[in-house]
Amino acid sequence: MFDFTGKNVIVTGGCAGLGRGIAAAFTKAGARTLVMDVSDKIDEIVREDGHAFGVRVDLADRADLKAGFEKAMELLGGRLDVLVNCAGVQKRHECEDFPLSDWDFVLEVNLNAVFELCQLAGRVMLGQGGGKIVNIASMLSFFGGLRVPAYSASKGGVMQLTRALAVAWAGKNIQVNAIAPGYMDTEMNTALVNDPVRSASILSRIPAGRWGTPEDVAGPVLFLASPAADYLSGAILPVDGGYLSC
Ligand SMILES: NC(=O)c1ccc[n+]([C@@H]2O[C@H](COP(=O)([O-])OP(=O)(O)OC[C@H]3O[C@@H](n4cnc5c(N)ncnc54)[C@H](O)[C@@H]3O)[C@@H](O)[C@H]2O)c1
Repeated sequence: MFDFTGKNVIVTGGCAGLGRGIAAAFTKAGARTLVMDVSDKIDEIVREDGHAFGVRVDLADRADLKAGFEKAMELLGGRLDVLVNCAGVQKRHECEDFPLSDWDFVLEVNLNAVFELCQLAGRVMLGQGGGKIVNIASMLSFFGGLRVPAYSASKGGVMQLTRALAVAWAGKNIQVNAIAPGYMDTEMNTALVNDPVRSASILSRIPAGRWGTPEDVAGPVLFLASPAADYLSGAILPVDGGYLSC
């Protein structure tokens, strides 16, 4: 069930952190993986991790996103079995001082780009009779968090968007689900990991007793993208070492 040989998979944000671990897991499972990322290191990482293709795209730029998706579909020969929307950004400021330019940037990458990619992928999948979409939500789809109003709003939006698309397309054999990772030790969280007070307070609430890793998230993503999840639609699956239940 977890053999992706011959499957075409797009992973956004595949050059670092969770996305890199997810893309690597698909490639190891036999997929033709195409990574979409804004990183300058994309060619190097695609080579290192053995992926089929890389397309450099800035998801904060709508024209670039559309052109990037078209290029991706050309490279993949017009078929798309799985889309994983993992690229995301974070900005931290007090709510009263939060710059509107940062608000717009976070919403553009974390929510607007996710909708547009789902829409573009959905059209391809509707045409071919099915497919799977996995969005990356967050614990902040459920909680407000501290100093991250744009991120929380965007991830709450990703959760609801996932449900709306799941309802729209479940009857057309497209399953749309999301993973809500807990606190993961990636570059995005360097500020938290390095803050002894915040880090201790977060760790004390994780029943598993440790921060999560890209490998912790990759398995559940492959599950949602596999035939094992053919009857799963609109689920928001926490991968959080028990945080949400604590
Ligand atoms: N780290 C965590 O604790 C955590 C928890 C919950 C959810 N998430 C979510 O998981 C996803 C990955 O997070 P991460 O911690 O691996 O982040 P990261 O910063 O380590 O990696 C993010 C990747 O996205 C790419 N990216 C950023 N902006 C982009 C843009 N405009 N266009 C294209 N690519 C872009 C980056 O180049 C990078 O490769 C994000 O959606 C994040 O919100 C992370």
